[in-house]
Amino acid sequence: MILAIETSCDETAVALLEKGRYLLAHKVASQVAWHRPHGGVVPELAARRHMETLAPLLQEVLAEGGRPLEEVEAVAVTRGPGLVGSLLVGVQFAKGLALALDRPLIGVHHLVGHLMATHLAYRRGGSWVEPPLPRYPALGLIVSGSHTDLVQIDEGEGGGPGRLHLLGSTRDDAAGEAFDKAARILGLPYPGGPAIEKAALQVEPGEPIPAFPRPLLGKGFDFSFSGLKTALLYWWEEEGRHQGERAVYRGAAGFQEAVVEVLFQKTAQAMEALGLKSLLLVGGVAANRRLREVFQRAAEEKGWEVHIPPLAFCTDNAAMIAAAGALSFQRGRRDSLDLDAHPSLPLQEEGWL
Ligand code: KG4
Ligand code: ZN
Repeated sequence: MILAIETSCDETAVALLEKGRYLLAHKVASQVAWHRPHGGVVPELAARRHMETLAPLLQEVLAEGGRPLEEVEAVAVTRGPGLVGSLLVGVQFAKGLALALDRPLIGVHHLVGHLMATHLAYRRGGSWVEPPLPRYPALGLIVSGSHTDLVQIDEGEGGGPGRLHLLGSTRDDAAGEAFDKAARILGLPYPGGPAIEKAALQVEPGEPIPAFPRPLLGKGFDFSFSGLKTALLYWWEEEGRHQGERAVYRGAAGFQEAVVEVLFQKTAQAMEALGLKSLLLVGGVAANRRLREVFQRAAEEKGWEVHIPPLAFCTDNAAMIAAAGALSFQRGRRDSLDLDAHPSLPLQEEGWL
């Protein structure tokens, strides 16, 4: 039984996981209401909120899981990447627990956590939902507020995930960050992803939407979203804002289509180039319904197996950190109590051990 702590950004999260994938309980305390007036995450505020929230949240998770703390076999915690102040609160809390319980500590890479969200089994309406485990080798597309990474995942021990190879990442804004900035341009609230998605749904069939550029399409596996954001800004200033309230919906839809197409096309090219059939689509932006739909349709057409976690496990949570921690634990990883938080922990070669 693994207890996991996640505090890399603005969600405080705790989870209890059994036998590598079975989620006994998990809680995510969102700080969105605190950060929204500032239009984005305020690091100092985030760290303070984590400190206030973490211990009571753990009590709630233990109560819900119906297990005493003593049954915990290891404590997993996100050690990076993320906001340094936020990470420190989680890492320090996890160390305190590991020390007091005399159990091993396991530091988890946040993005490896996102990938492992595809392994989770969870209760729904009294019975267990056990999604098929991904087959490896696989391709991973990690799309979050701070990362847009295409990774090749080798087959590892026991058919599970092995070494990671970074194929491409964003040269400027991450996909989620682009959604957040686009929302700000259109006067939509933070966080921008869900707001853009909702606005785009208001577009009527046949209503014209602006055609924005598809940056770096056909040019390797790196991404760039900052030019797209600028294109939206110019369109908004010169045309959109004079077109009435529906322009927000059209701008949102045009922007979303451009991001989704770039993400999809590059992924499809990588799948083809590497001859892969298994795909993991993860991270906060993978909560986007339009993105999910495009990838799911491709799965049927191209014969891929596509693994996309349920919405709650796309955005930041501790269940995914527990799943990653459990795998590392099974493979023998133990971190010492001088484990440091690492705000820019690289993904490349960051193994499961
Ligand atoms: O993975 P995540 O929860 O946190 C990070 O690790 O960064 O991702 C948060 C990002 C935010 O930028 C948010 O706007 C975006 O995910 N996001 C979405 C949606 N839900 C969250 N983007 C597009 N559509 C969504 N439905
Ligand atoms: Zn994340």
